[in-house]
Amino acid sequence: AYFNQNQGPLKGKNILVTAGPTRESIDPVRYFSNYSSGKMGYAIAQALRDKGADVTLISGPAQLTPPDDVEVVYIESTLEMYEEVMKRYPKADAVVKSAAVSDYRPKHTSQHKVKKSEGPVTIEMVRNPDILKELGEKKEQQILIGFAAETRDVADYAKKKLENKNLDMIVANNVLEADAGFQSDTNRVTFFYRHGKTESFELLSKNVVANHLADALISLFEEREQ
Ligand code: CTP
Ligand code: CA
Repeated sequence: AYFNQNQGPLKGKNILVTAGPTRESIDPVRYFSNYSSGKMGYAIAQALRDKGADVTLISGPAQLTPPDDVEVVYIESTLEMYEEVMKRYPKADAVVKSAAVSDYRPKHTSQHKVKKSEGPVTIEMVRNPDILKELGEKKEQQILIGFAAETRDVADYAKKKLENKNLDMIVANNVLEADAGFQSDTNRVTFFYRHGKTESFELLSKNVVANHLADALISLFEEREQ
């Protein structure tokens, strides 16, 4: 870490990090969500800050204390995340999209608690915006890093997402593997880069993975500035 604040290889870089799950509200007491803990995203925010970046952490509900000296914006739904990311995007130098975003939301959110006496329910779902895909379409100076949490054919799906979303790098992992899931403190990841380079890591703590990601981002900035 650079104890003198605003020092380090990412000095002056404005970086958005999204973390955690989203919640899609059904009624005032219920929601759809996923198992994301937010640990990976919070570790990334900290690693980037330690290397001198100005970090904004856009976080879904997570049971974690955010790192010091990071701007934190709490959101619940994907639509809220979309708004907070989009308004900061023009001034961002990079976006790291580690949040586990809901692809769908209920078409209607009930104002009142849904009662069981109303009978078996069918909830109609509609698509949420693909935030990262839209960032890829609007990309100018920004470096984009995405995530792909898969359960099979990890490399194939990850490379497709890298290309589809116009990313510079994607971090892929198999969430069915032991100690590499949404809730664990460790992860086994592979970085796939835009130009075909691949880096595979052993099982590591999420803090160490976050440091590797920060180093990867530093080299992506260096490439760009050459
Ligand atoms: N993502 C996003 N907005 C969404 C869905 C995903 O920004 N509505 C981002 C995630 O934060 C992640 C990347 O896209 O960085 C890949 O998410 P993932 O769920 O693995 O991919 P999808 O494109 O949603 O495809 P699928 O769920 O069908 O595998
Ligand atoms: Ca998805």
